[in-house]
Amino acid sequence: MPKHSKSPALFPRALYMWPVWIIALGTSGKSFAGNPVIGSRLLNTLGLHVLRVLIARLVTWFRWLLLAPIADRETRRGLHRDGFVVLAEFISQNQVDALRREVKNHTGETRQMLQGNTATQRILLDAAALRDKHHLTALCQSRRFLRPLKYAAAKLSPPLLYVQRIRNGIREAGADPQKTMHADTFHPTIKAWLFLEDVTPEKGPFTYVKGSHKLTAARLRWEYARSRIAAQTHDGYSEKGSFRASTDDLTAMNLPAPAGVCARAGTLVIANTNGFHGRGQAEEDQSRLEVWAYSRPSPFNPLPGLPFHFISTLQSAILKAFWRGKDRTAAARNSRASWHLIDASEMTDFDQPGAPGS
Ligand SMILES: [Fe+2]
Repeated sequence: MPKHSKSPALFPRALYMWPVWIIALGTSGKSFAGNPVIGSRLLNTLGLHVLRVLIARLVTWFRWLLLAPIADRETRRGLHRDGFVVLAEFISQNQVDALRREVKNHTGETRQMLQGNTATQRILLDAAALRDKHHLTALCQSRRFLRPLKYAAAKLSPPLLYVQRIRNGIREAGADPQKTMHADTFHPTIKAWLFLEDVTPEKGPFTYVKGSHKLTAARLRWEYARSRIAAQTHDGYSEKGSFRASTDDLTAMNLPAPAGVCARAGTLVIANTNGFHGRGQAEEDQSRLEVWAYSRPSPFNPLPGLPFHFISTLQSAILKAFWRGKDRTAAARNSRASWHLIDASEMTDFDQPGAPGS
């Protein structure tokens, strides 16, 4: 059960922040602890959070209808029926091998975040990282790959693309918080995984609560109840707008148990992460390699945006500048940023004998 403490003041410590907090209601802003308007117990008792959830879903449906022609019927049906879709044999084993070889030869910027005993390692696939990587470049420009991702996100600009490796048991530490079932935010967003190796149960497959993306009456009741106490919840994530759902919560919402998505190399999985999901419980020293995509559209914009690559180029540049700023701040404190630089070989050693997951 979440711990409770003093409610944040609805009347703010700094008057000039009011316009910012109010304007944030019309954006993807989601922090109950950081924004006393979003986190207001009074306003959420009056239905503020549930109203944002409903309007955002309505707007997303409008964009999904506009973008229906860019995705095939099976993909659309799967996404709206289950909350995720599994496209088996999306690429061939030969293509998987070619992508793995290019990842293996990568020597550029590579970052890592540690959560509990798990390391998430990523290479952002921007122009610098894609130089001399012809197979990865072709994938990142492939309409066949990008179109279902754009449809799922209801957003025409391409998602951010990475190569990602999840390494379990990297250190002695507590549990990985991403293994608790959760919704990423209050509106549909997507994540996708194109697996570059077979994902078996011991590797901690992506885990999803089938059908949990649907805004049923039970889900809305749960969202309402959560929104009233979220600002005072201290699990590290719910108060920031990413609600955690326990087994009891799932039962109360008439949802099934979470199930891992085991898949062969070359399978593409696309998920609406407004549904409850998490990482599977991997065994010690296991790892998983994949091309990973992420897209978080503006929840209240009825237009799906523009299909321009320069938008994701710009996003990547901003992201890298942000990371470098965090590096400098951390270095000044004699520390390291949560997404810190690592030597690429710490990620690309996946074929070495004795390396985790090898
Ligand atoms: Fe998540």
